Amino acid sequence: MEQPLESIIRRFADAVASPDPQASAERVMAEIVRDPAVVAAAARRSDCRELRDLVIHKDERLTVLAGAIPAGFSTSPHNHSLWSVVGVAAGREDNTFFERDEETGLRKVREVSVVAPGVLANTVDAIHAIANPLDEPLVAIHVYGGNLLEVDRSSWDPQTLEEIPFQWDRMTDG
Ligand SMILES: [Fe+2]
Repeated sequence: MEQPLESIIRRFADAVASPDPQASAERVMAEIVRDPAVVAAAARRSDCRELRDLVIHKDERLTVLAGAIPAGFSTSPHNHSLWSVVGVAAGREDNTFFERDEETGLRKVREVSVVAPGVLANTVDAIHAIANPLDEPLVAIHVYGGNLLEVDRSSWDPQTLEEIPFQWDRMTDG
């Protein structure tokens, strides 16, 4: 029998092969964050120390992350250069969105808390930082419309807000 995480990879692969990949991925995500078997399987991936460890699938059209993000985790501001769909299967993911600013480098524009079972679609040019503000794991499923591990992208120094080439090793402070 197909395992829950294998099944979500197949469903997202079908979504990105459809005429409207991101909207299709969003529809799939809305279902799977409510699927107890998927939620349990993602929650069991609890030994991830960095976001990179959450990758369960990557190819040139699709990257899928699934797993538990520990309490207190947060990232620096970063972009992806790909569309994305964030799914929260348990807990809460706080997203802070930014825009480039000529004077300061970056300015905060809005905050969105995604609470389980929740979905948030982000544009190709979105710049955000994420955090798990709760005392419990955030069980997250994220999909990206390309290979997130290969794409050229940026992060911003949290103190100086200077744009720098993205490095996975600088993503975590938790
Ligand atoms: Fe991100």
